[in-house]
Amino acid sequence: MAGKLMHAVQYDSYGGGAAGLKHVEVPVPTPEKDEVLLKLEATTLNPIDWKIQEGVLRPLLPRKFPHVPCTDVAGEVLEVGSGVKNFRTGDKVVAMLSHATGGGLAEFAVAKESLTVARPPEVSAAEASGLLVAGLTAHEALTKTAGIKLDGSGEHADILITAASGGVGHYAVQLAKLGNAHVTATCGARNMEFVKSLGADEVLDYKTPEGAALKSPSGRKYDAVIHCTSGIPWSTFEPNLSENGKVIDITPGVNTMITCAVKKVTCAKKQLVPLILTAKAENLDYLVKQVKAGKLKTVIDSKHPLSEAEYAWAKSIGGHATGKVIVEP
Ligand SMILES: NC(=O)c1ccc[n+]([C@@H]2O[C@H](COP(=O)([O-])OP(=O)(O)OC[C@H]3O[C@@H](n4cnc5c(N)ncnc54)[C@H](OP(=O)(O)O)[C@@H]3O)[C@@H](O)[C@H]2O)c1
Repeated sequence: MAGKLMHAVQYDSYGGGAAGLKHVEVPVPTPEKDEVLLKLEATTLNPIDWKIQEGVLRPLLPRKFPHVPCTDVAGEVLEVGSGVKNFRTGDKVVAMLSHATGGGLAEFAVAKESLTVARPPEVSAAEASGLLVAGLTAHEALTKTAGIKLDGSGEHADILITAASGGVGHYAVQLAKLGNAHVTATCGARNMEFVKSLGADEVLDYKTPEGAALKSPSGRKYDAVIHCTSGIPWSTFEPNLSENGKVIDITPGVNTMITCAVKKVTCAKKQLVPLILTAKAENLDYLVKQVKAGKLKTVIDSKHPLSEAEYAWAKSIGGHATGKVIVEP
């Protein structure tokens, strides 16, 4: 593929939102020793993609301009680097690219072998691509931070999942149920039936006083909160937590870091825990296998062709997606 051009979507400065995206022709990337070249079949957007464009991680990310955003991809292996051991041409895979280099809004991308996982025919490219940032974050929050055993062998837990209709939340509900947890969930009125259908035991409309107070209708105190939205103060969580309950904040800002530090210093039993995803291929492989087994599903909010990627971008920025927003080359 050396020397060939491909369609890609990029931005060349901070800010600009959907209007800042440009359709360009750029060279197809060449895989390094430890990389595979993929012909992309689906790319999933996450809020972090447009937050990086907004400059939230300035000056660290993106590493340089112009930047082709997005990290969550699925496709077919076209070429392998000389050191790649587990994949060959023609393999269907799902892979996570680096946020520093991006590359997902394009026809082709290179992915590290270490974050590439085989995709069985039962799992579509769109379904698989959703599992990356969103599915892995839900998995890490539940298993590593909340201590839920997804085979159901652990102690019973009462879990609250906020923004359960979103990308992370909709996986968190399903995975928490695999772990036999009792799930209370918050979402908007239009998604209450949807969130129940994912397995939530009780659902609160976040725009009602009860929903805003996060009160479990059955009076439960939460052992863990998988907190997938923002703007809820600690004083709202605190009375709803069990004795050693913890809030796992996946959008940690300055207030979270301060509250977290105070809790640690004072040895408080109730904890606020910031979480930034550490992506692991073994966890991705687990999620792919759950989809194949019919135990987990990716709910697709909308699919957009690469030629209309700016609509997908605007949809994600709007903050009202139900499940995942997908772009298909
Ligand atoms: N730390 C990490 O590594 C990590 C990883 C992944 C994501 N994140 C962050 O986690 C957050 C969620 O990501 P996501 O992909 O799940 O977002 P998303 O898919 O864009 O979430 C959209 C959903 O959130 C719902 N929602 C919005 N405000 C709500 C509220 N106050 N209460 C209940 N539901 C609400 C919306 O429902 P309505 O349409 O009804 O309003 C919509 O269905 C983002 O800030 C993202 O950057 C962090």
